[in-house]
Amino acid sequence: MTDKMVKAIGIFDSGIGGLTVLKEIIQKLPQEDTVYLGDTARVPYGTKSPETVTRYSFENTAFLLKQEIKLLVVACNTSSAISLHEIKKTVPIPVIGVLEPGARAAVKATKSKRVGVIGTEATIGSGAYPDTIKRLDSRIEVFSTPCPLFVPLVEEGWMDNEITLMVAERYLGPLKKERIDTLLLGCTHYPLLKGILKDVMGDGVSLIDSAQETAIEVERILSQKGLLRKISGEGKHGYFVTDAPGRFASLGERFLGFRIDRVEKIDT
Ligand code: DGL
Repeated sequence: MTDKMVKAIGIFDSGIGGLTVLKEIIQKLPQEDTVYLGDTARVPYGTKSPETVTRYSFENTAFLLKQEIKLLVVACNTSSAISLHEIKKTVPIPVIGVLEPGARAAVKATKSKRVGVIGTEATIGSGAYPDTIKRLDSRIEVFSTPCPLFVPLVEEGWMDNEITLMVAERYLGPLKKERIDTLLLGCTHYPLLKGILKDVMGDGVSLIDSAQETAIEVERILSQKGLLRKISGEGKHGYFVTDAPGRFASLGERFLGFRIDRVEKIDT
């Protein structure tokens, strides 16, 4: 076994939401070590300018590269939409964002060629999802809308109550009118709202979870590059944040489905 295989997968997000991506990666590749960085001091990215998102994303990348990782996952949809291209140009290891895997799955899923995309203001404002989807299939019509209240609602633990349902109906009403058959969840937090989103959109609309699709892509790239860890046994998982490790650990369980024992605070 070479050193490269035993190195960890590095993952960053603006905060806690990227744990939905980490969860899928751990489920798919339980033998892999991972290092997660949540930029909790500067979250949210979804309301910030592209310049600021890119500066933060580069700082996160620099920290993870120091951890000797073999692959970088940009788990934040906002960073993926705005900064992935620039990061890929400068980083000497494979870099995977959450946008392209989700877009590819949406293109595969739609029959009516009418796809909805939801995300943060910055993600939707960047136009990156429609651009990517249309590059894959120019016949697809994309209808996108920002859903900024979903992030705080999920962090509050309101995944399944009447207030969240009302908010979802308000945001998704216009997309329903467009008769989409596929809805792409273009934000780390939205997989936790699948139940309500399904209720609002109805059975005829497929929900595409970028987190799941990204984990499939991570496995594909590691296998293609001969970087999959071959030994059996469970991998180790390191957690770093830029602020409030206690809050991260307690909220983290909701996103990951298991307890996080140790979270280390770093300065970027
Ligand atoms: N992680 C962000 C995303 O997926 C959501 C939270 C934020 O706005 O930073 O776009």
